[in-house]
Amino acid sequence: MTYTVGYFVGSLSSASINRKLANALTRLAPQADLRLVEIPIAELPFYNPDHDADYPAEGRALKQAIKLVDAVLIVTPEYNRSIPGYLKNAIDWATRPWGDNSLAGKPSAVIGASIGAIGTAVAQQHLRSILSFAASPELAQPEAYLTFTEGLITDDGEVTNDATAQFLIDWLKAFNGHIQKTLGPASAA
Ligand SMILES: Cc1cc2nc3c(=O)[nH]c(=O)nc-3n(C[C@H](O)[C@H](O)[C@H](O)COP(=O)(O)O)c2cc1C
Repeated sequence: MTYTVGYFVGSLSSASINRKLANALTRLAPQADLRLVEIPIAELPFYNPDHDADYPAEGRALKQAIKLVDAVLIVTPEYNRSIPGYLKNAIDWATRPWGDNSLAGKPSAVIGASIGAIGTAVAQQHLRSILSFAASPELAQPEAYLTFTEGLITDDGEVTNDATAQFLIDWLKAFNGHIQKTLGPASAA
């Protein structure tokens, strides 16, 4: 079963290593029967409950994009041992207005790359906590923490280390299994 996965990149940096990782996952995804499409978050204004009565176009587009995919993948850096503010902002938009949480029941997975030794582990724990509160069933295992070394992934997503590429394929396959278990085999978007 091929599932469509919408991904958020939690970095706005033009040289983002997490965007390289997202590009790599997009290239490898067909080997795990997944199709990855980006859900952009960079243009979202700051969430404010004043918007709840009449969501702006950016907020509606985000919620519609989530509705159209089978699952959500978050590829994020670690900022000060947590997630970047604009990623949290996107999740806040997705979970509101009250009673219309776009992440509820939507299978998800988290992954991230850092130049540090623990490869976004602390940020991912924070993110798991947020997704749990948002009622999104998360892929629990395997976890995926990438320590990024120069040249590991090219700008267009070619993984230059075979063991890393295989790890990412296996991780994507586990995500496919998680989506299937959560949604059932007949529900691909
Ligand atoms: C504001 C800020 C905070 C950071 N905090 C952490 C951190 O807590 N842990 C870590 O491993 N790296 C941290 N870094 C370094 C990032 O891992 C590194 O900048 C990485 O390239 C960010 O991902 P990106 O290239 O996808 O934007 C921080 C970077 C910035 C700009």
